[in-house]
Amino acid sequence: MELILTSVSKTKIAEMLKPILADQFVLYIKLRNYHWNVTGSHFLTLHKKFEELYNELAEDIDNVAERIRTYGLYAPGTMQEFLRLANLKEEEEGEYPNQFDMVKRIVNDYNSLADRIREIGNKIQTEYSDEVTASGLYNLTEKYEKHAWLLKSMIEEGF
Ligand SMILES: [Fe+2]
Repeated sequence: MELILTSVSKTKIAEMLKPILADQFVLYIKLRNYHWNVTGSHFLTLHKKFEELYNELAEDIDNVAERIRTYGLYAPGTMQEFLRLANLKEEEEGEYPNQFDMVKRIVNDYNSLADRIREIGNKIQTEYSDEVTASGLYNLTEKYEKHAWLLKSMIEEGF
């Protein structure tokens, strides 16, 4: 099987990475929001955890954006574009969920992002045989599912 990707294929793959980048960016902003605005008995744990997660996402975002560039497209880089491309939803302006709901929302976001990335990774693998890009995406899925599990475990006992 021919494993050299044409530039047309690379363009199509890069297009598929854009919504992932957008979702990662929305989640990044939401984690910053929660890092700043969390209150309650678990303030310190969550304040630190959210920071750890957005720092990790900042690196993931960079890798996806640079993969898009490597495949010849410009990476989305405006808030407008991110919001248009994203599946995940921002918090409503002026709405600050309590500490438990913050964790629940982050768990849901990580899970739906992980599912979406798996689906796109699978498409890239089966339609273009681009194992390199697909495996990078599968690694993200594994990591995000783990974050979801870890955070979910925190609230299962009612905190
Ligand atoms: Fe801070």
